[in-house]
Amino acid sequence: MIERTFMMIKPDGVQRGKVGEIIRRIENKGYRIVDIKMVRPTEILLDAHYAEHVGKSFYPSLVAYMTSGPVIAMIGEGTNIVAGWRMLMGATNPTDAAPGTIRGDLGREWQSDAIMNLVHGSDSVTTAKREIELWFS
Ligand code: TYD
Ligand code: MG
Repeated sequence: MIERTFMMIKPDGVQRGKVGEIIRRIENKGYRIVDIKMVRPTEILLDAHYAEHVGKSFYPSLVAYMTSGPVIAMIGEGTNIVAGWRMLMGATNPTDAAPGTIRGDLGREWQSDAIMNLVHGSDSVTTAKREIELWFS
């Protein structure tokens, strides 16, 4: 199934100069980047994007992290890209992420209050539609 998903390089990925390396991995996998832009996320945008996490204990530190600098927002396209991009990203916490994944290879061993994990990917086809609409409308 050819799908589309929402992909993002988070502020730590931009600040640490990992944009090229991450996009190289996306392209090597055979995924197509159909749209891309640099965005400085607002708190309003993040409340919508992370609606399921608003109010959780880690949410304030997540917002502080995500507003600490610009991000690269992308629409990716490819066969089973929703699940495939999550596999390329690796586990949420880089400490647990497998070698060979972006978070496993490039993530930092230590974490502050917020888990700084370089990338985001939609968790389902339905979420992907919602996130693409939110970031690219
Ligand atoms: P989540 O949607 O669970 O992870 P993923 O990004 O892999 O889909 O959480 C969203 C982000 O919130 C996650 O990337 C990092 C942050 N986060 C924390 O800072 N602490 C936590 O305990 C969790 C679960 C997430
Ligand atoms: Mg998620």
